[in-house]
Amino acid sequence: MDFRYFVPVEIYGGEDCVRKNAAVFARCGSRALIVTGKSSAKNGSLADVAAVLEANGQEYAVFDSVPPNPTVQSVEEGAALARRFGAGFIVAVGGGSPMDAAKAIAVLARQQAPEGIFAHKIGEDVLPMLHIPTTAGTGSEVTPYAIITNDEKQTKTSISAPSLFPKAAFLDGKYMKDLPQSVTVNTALDAVSHAVEGMLSVRAGALSDALARESLRLLLGEYPSLLKGEYSALSRQNLLNGAALAGMVIANTGTSPVHGMGYSLTYFHGVAHGRANGLLLPAFLAVCERKIPAAYVGDLRRSRHERARIYGQGRRASGRAGEPDRRRTQRLCRPRGEEQKCRKLPRKVFRSRPVRSAVCIFSLIRLSLFVTFSRFYFFEFSPKYCNELPFVI
Ligand SMILES: [Fe+2]
Repeated sequence: MDFRYFVPVEIYGGEDCVRKNAAVFARCGSRALIVTGKSSAKNGSLADVAAVLEANGQEYAVFDSVPPNPTVQSVEEGAALARRFGAGFIVAVGGGSPMDAAKAIAVLARQQAPEGIFAHKIGEDVLPMLHIPTTAGTGSEVTPYAIITNDEKQTKTSISAPSLFPKAAFLDGKYMKDLPQSVTVNTALDAVSHAVEGMLSVRAGALSDALARESLRLLLGEYPSLLKGEYSALSRQNLLNGAALAGMVIANTGTSPVHGMGYSLTYFHGVAHGRANGLLLPAFLAVCERKIPAAYVGDLRRSRHERARIYGQGRRASGRAGEPDRRRTQRLCRPRGEEQKCRKLPRKVFRSRPVRSAVCIFSLIRLSLFVTFSRFYFFEFSPKYCNELPFVI
């Protein structure tokens, strides 16, 4: 089977990897624009970057006005600051919003886009970027995509170009130490969704599948932590590594209608991106199970023994190998396909919410399907899936 795999990002991981790799910052230029949200000042990431830049003798300016779900206006403001300051490179610190905004800023700081960022054909002349994720979900630190709010089309729109790959990414789980539980869960669902959607993509290949499997092993191995809301340093690093691996998957495969539909939920109803994916993923998997030829879901249809083995690996990786958990393992081994496990994550996580609100959300999904149908042309199987989805839901 033919495939292509391409992720040109230098990746550093582990505790204090920013401070330990100051030389990477030094070689990018003398003036940096730090693009971030408001939380980086609290989690220590901004302080680490500032310390490294100061030690290197590099000047920097901080643009911390990136809102959740970045707008065109905010990235234009950031680009204007980058030009005024004479920034030679960008350091993106934060979750998906600052990292995506940084990519658009890197483009607009160097390129004129009179037709607007969404219609603009992105060239090679882009400010070099270093990405430091402080949430584990988007994988933006290893993808060539930036998702920006498109008020004209009333959705979120992805811009993409090979030049949008960051030069380097730094994965340090300590920055997630004080992340709220809801953000941790929602972003983890985003990462799980990336890995699963990547495996079901028509562009999936042997390498992207291998990364997706390892990503799911790490992410689902942290399933008990996500339920309890208790995270060790290893748990946080596993989530961050798993999210980056899932990002490397979609960097090559793209996503699926789950993301396309989720953008409408986020735009119109303010549902967090990962949560929107988590709500839609079970229905999508149910459709795939019925409609996709067995060859496409071969990786998801493992034997019971294989699923138990993978679950056991996840528990060992998270240091819980010795805990008795026979009932959970038995549930995971039900002969209904690997997707059973993926369905359980959102169900369990959202179990505490009232059933009535879930019904409301599903009704909104039905409405949003109509709005988003036209956006699925890129996915080979999507037209017939989308026709089915209202009935599945
Ligand atoms: Fe996503």
